[in-house]
Amino acid sequence: MKPLTGHIALVTGAARGIGQAIALRLAVDGALVIVSDRDGDAASKTASRITALGHQAACLTLDVTDLEAVKASIDLLCAEHGRIDILVSNAGAGKSRPFLDMNEAELQSQMALNFGSVYVLAQACARKMRATGYGRVVFVSSVTGLAGPIELSAYGAMKAGQLGLMRAMALELGEHGITTNAVAPGPTDTELLRVAWSAEQVAEAGERIPARRIGKPEEVAHAVSFLASPEAAFINGVVLPVDGGFTAAGGYMAEVYRQRKARQNNDKL
Ligand SMILES: NC(=O)c1ccc[n+]([C@@H]2O[C@H](COP(=O)([O-])OP(=O)(O)OC[C@H]3O[C@@H](n4cnc5c(N)ncnc54)[C@H](O)[C@@H]3O)[C@@H](O)[C@H]2O)c1
Repeated sequence: MKPLTGHIALVTGAARGIGQAIALRLAVDGALVIVSDRDGDAASKTASRITALGHQAACLTLDVTDLEAVKASIDLLCAEHGRIDILVSNAGAGKSRPFLDMNEAELQSQMALNFGSVYVLAQACARKMRATGYGRVVFVSSVTGLAGPIELSAYGAMKAGQLGLMRAMALELGEHGITTNAVAPGPTDTELLRVAWSAEQVAEAGERIPARRIGKPEEVAHAVSFLASPEAAFINGVVLPVDGGFTAAGGYMAEVYRQRKARQNNDKL
């Protein structure tokens, strides 16, 4: 039997990128996946792609920053499917801006998307999970929540905030059979990254990672699927970096990169 057979999973921001890879992975692993996104057409295409492959999926149009819609959608979802076993809170985005130039409107919008919505959605799902005595919550945080990012102060702070919330939930919900964990992807090859970074920046980021490349959405998805499985019952309140060794390397990789560049420049002389 597949590890997630019979489980009902909700993945937000699942129309593309990391969320889409997670939705597909959970479905391949046996879950019925609710593919949720604010872009309903794209979510529906992803759900159809999953069902065309012989797996189970449904689609939910939901902007996670609409908190009333979030609560209503979770009620509806549970009325339709009986319960929710897995929440993967993935929808999120950052906008690069120097700290000194950040304005309040942008700050509010970053907080609403990357923290407020995550909190309210997790709370709504956890209330349903407590009623059944089982649940798996996985946050898609970021390495920017583990180390200080440059020109992503609000995004990084909210991703760190998700880790604080994760620990609090782990403490309060563990006795109800609910685990709360997080993955922290490093730079991962998605549209979000390709829009924000030039090909040169992507290549340079890869050089600074011990694995010598950026990550693939599928690699994050495998980690999420494990944390969402019944087998991960005794893993609670931890963050798993999926970053090719980026955070393990700390500042050391910058020095490796500097020396490598210097050698390359010497070779050219
Ligand atoms: N790509 C990376 O390098 C990277 C690294 C670390 C963490 N992350 C995190 O992973 C998650 C997914 O990132 P991605 O690279 O796949 O992004 P992406 O932009 O490619 O996809 C994000 C999806 O979320 C949806 N979305 C955005 N705002 C939404 C909202 N308000 N309500 C519902 N859906 C919404 C978008 O429509 C899109 O389908 C994000 O939380 C991001 O912060 C990404």
